[in-house]
Amino acid sequence: MRALITGISGFVGQYLEKRLLKESNMVFGTSRSQRKENNYLCLNLLCEQEIVHLLKNIRPSHIFHLAGMSNVKQSWTARKHVIEANTSATINLLEAVKKADPNIRVITIGSSEEYGYLGSNQTPISEDSMLQPINPYGVSKAAVSMLVKQYYKADHLNVIHLRPFNHIGPGQSLGFVTSDFAYQLALINSKKTENNQMKIGNLEAIRDFTDVRDIVEAYYQIAMYGKSGEIYNVCRGIGVNIQTILDILLSFSDIQVETVTDETKMRPSEVSILIGSNQKLLNHISWQPKIPLEKSLYDIYQFWLSKINQKL
Ligand code: GDD
Repeated sequence: MRALITGISGFVGQYLEKRLLKESNMVFGTSRSQRKENNYLCLNLLCEQEIVHLLKNIRPSHIFHLAGMSNVKQSWTARKHVIEANTSATINLLEAVKKADPNIRVITIGSSEEYGYLGSNQTPISEDSMLQPINPYGVSKAAVSMLVKQYYKADHLNVIHLRPFNHIGPGQSLGFVTSDFAYQLALINSKKTENNQMKIGNLEAIRDFTDVRDIVEAYYQIAMYGKSGEIYNVCRGIGVNIQTILDILLSFSDIQVETVTDETKMRPSEVSILIGSNQKLLNHISWQPKIPLEKSLYDIYQFWLSKINQKL
């Protein structure tokens, strides 16, 4: 495989690069700013011509399109930006692929947020469920999945669209629940706070969490063995409420922690339950998530502990 990863310097991109390099694949990556590594290239995905030029130079066999905006909460205050970064950028990429080499296999990354309000009687959610996104981020990704279908049918592009559910791991930035909680707990345990308080948002939501290391394994397997034109959920298929995430993290510490609800962490609207079905994925490729939730959370907590203590 001669892979191109857009957004290679992001959370998932870093893990995917490592995974692909294990199999001696050639890996190139793009990000918005120039990096020192030779295989990292600067690319503005809002400029189709720039993408065509890069594809003709690199000649990838596969593209993993990870670049975009991933924070659901921020999308409420950045509606135009999320459509541009997620939807318009994907159109530019697919148009460029058409011009440079329509045989390139393109893996686009959507989200469980495309499904939105389905109601608990429709869980686990399968790929053919209705799309009813309830936030700007979900709209941007639902649009991508519909466009991808059209590029497959009308333009015969070799595209596969993935809908990952929540994915977590060491290195994910703040602004996502497991990092937000683990970071605060690590600060408390490193005696860097005046009180032993943690600020939290909605603890009632139920989400389907998978470790990023398992997620990138699925991305790789799908790129190799998935069926063109298909959409796949990527998830564990087990729902956990956010309270449970908090409880597991708190169990790593002996210090008595006070939790305080922070209204700024609440969202204008929120899907209460998102649990996916991974049946289609299991039918097409031999993938199973291997890393237990407790290990992911422990590794995330250790990541923040060492990051905080490096700053000493
Ligand atoms: N971020 C955050 N911070 N979320 C909190 C907090 C907090 O302090 N407290 C509670 N939550 C709740 C949120 O309200 C939400 O219900 C849940 O925790 C998960 O929030 P996030 O980790 O921010 O993720 P997300 O579900 O909004 O979106 C993630 O998963 C999607 C797939 O389901 C992102 O990774 C998206 O990019 C991804 O597509």
